[in-house]
Amino acid sequence: MPVKNSFSEIHQEITGWRRHLHEIPELMYDLPETTAFVQERLRAIGVDEITPGIGRSGIVAVIKGRQDTQGRVIGLRADMDALPIHEATGLDYASRTDGKMHACGHDGHTAILLGAAQYLTETRNFDGTAVLIFQPAEEGGAGGKAMCDDGLMDRWGIQEVYGLHNTPGLPVGQFAIRPGPLLASADEFEITVTGKGGHAAAPHEAVDTTLVAAQIVVSLQSVVARSVDPIHRVVVTVGTFETDSVASNVIAHQVRMKGTVRTLDGQNRALARRRIREVAEGTAAAFGARAEMTWEDGYPPTVNHETQTGYALDAARAVAGAANVIDDVDPIMPAEDFSFMLEERPGAYIFLGNGDTMMCHHPQYQFDDDAIPAGCSWFAELVERRMPLG
Ligand code: NI
Repeated sequence: MPVKNSFSEIHQEITGWRRHLHEIPELMYDLPETTAFVQERLRAIGVDEITPGIGRSGIVAVIKGRQDTQGRVIGLRADMDALPIHEATGLDYASRTDGKMHACGHDGHTAILLGAAQYLTETRNFDGTAVLIFQPAEEGGAGGKAMCDDGLMDRWGIQEVYGLHNTPGLPVGQFAIRPGPLLASADEFEITVTGKGGHAAAPHEAVDTTLVAAQIVVSLQSVVARSVDPIHRVVVTVGTFETDSVASNVIAHQVRMKGTVRTLDGQNRALARRRIREVAEGTAAAFGARAEMTWEDGYPPTVNHETQTGYALDAARAVAGAANVIDDVDPIMPAEDFSFMLEERPGAYIFLGNGDTMMCHHPQYQFDDDAIPAGCSWFAELVERRMPLG
């Protein structure tokens, strides 16, 4: 694999960091051991500045290039948090904590960014400043937003921002990206349906809320099938459905359901929100019941900026060879909170091959350490290409 040679040399060392992080998975913002390790490594590497506590438990590190004639600043981001999953890999460096696991490879992302930091600090072959962003709470806690809200972009003068995610199914040593939407938004809705409870033997004296709510579940799929332009992608999933009846001979008075909506753009996001409300309220009204919807905004879609996607592609091709880089990969419907950073600054997010393993978030998922040199090289290449020495 044509990666930067120095990463072949320090591959084993970075693998050691990765496996150590794998043993100490921590959740959301509560990352005391992880952030202590990252800071210890950054100090040993000799970066120029380390600022902890950004976005509660995020860390920002600064590496200055050999020159700074243009005032250029590039942000590179990794996520540090794990998942509440019981690890079932049987690895000798498996999680030491029951019920917590690095099942999304964020240990790999953190180690990769530390590896890039080591190279960039040693070589400093760039004209400007590299800002390393280690964020907490990617898994549902919006840690990326918390860091942005703490002034990340302005305080460090970040002009462009880049991130990566390992991807099972994509061969190790390959990259995949596309301009525009790459990952979906993920919002949540709750619908409460109120009918009229009663005796199961006398449905005519009740309004059967379970029947009404079931009709709503079915009708919600018409939002995707009949309201969204078929060339666009929207997912509506009802995940929970609870009636307040606990007996087979009681007609429920109230039903609550919760679901998630995934879209790749703001227009469909707004359309889905409006149609879900209309379908729920209208269906309930047709049966003499009442439906109320509440909505909680989650992560926005992750939208790659066109120009920066080009830079990300150039760096990936330089690292892996053009044959190993897909430039028009299909978007996927999970969400990613790097989206908040891409709302504040131009940038791009790339998929890094992780070979044959279970999907992310599976208890047998494994990060492939052979992906490390490619990931490190991509970050380093971006910095050197976007901020070349004069
Ligand atoms: Ni992840």
